[in-house]
Amino acid sequence: MTKRRGFGLSENASNSKEQIMRAVLASLALLLPLLAQPAAAQDAGAGERSFAKCRACHQIGPGARNLVGPELNGLIGRHSGSVEGYSYSAANKNSGLTWDEATFAEYIKDPKAKIPGTKMIFPGIKNEKEVADLTAFLKQFDKDGKKL
Ligand code: HEC
Repeated sequence: MTKRRGFGLSENASNSKEQIMRAVLASLALLLPLLAQPAAAQDAGAGERSFAKCRACHQIGPGARNLVGPELNGLIGRHSGSVEGYSYSAANKNSGLTWDEATFAEYIKDPKAKIPGTKMIFPGIKNEKEVADLTAFLKQFDKDGKKL
């Protein structure tokens, strides 16, 4: 009798351990696809709204012209200071940067920190999700302003 109960108890105990393990595995299975996504998923639509902060000085898209700042077509992959007909500061022109996503993200958080002496007067965007969205919006445009 005692033995049976003992057996019963340990069976229960191992059952509940198994249940916990199952629950842990199940929640891992749910979490893994989330973890596999980039830290901040990119939303080009939200990025377009964020680009409102840039429009006073920058154009993008078909026929984009240089304004206060250079046009931003084909930005991701572009060398800094390379838009023809735009008069860059020496700081920007000589920064030697290529605008890949990581470099752009660092820059737009705090332009003056990344390129000391830049004439872009913009406090920066600190929110990583907003930067990711903005990047998704910008990288849709090839160097002719066509959407890829
Ligand atoms: C008040 C005007 C102004 C605003 C607002 C502004 N910029 Fe600029 N931006 C400039 C100017 C001016 C330059 C040229 C900097 C230089 O030559 O030092 C520039 C340069 C840049 C460059 C470097 C381009 C290159 O060809 O090397 C990038 C990238 C850029 N801006 C992105 C942005 C984005 C994205 C926003 C909005 C989040 C933004 N800027 C907001 C004025 C502005």
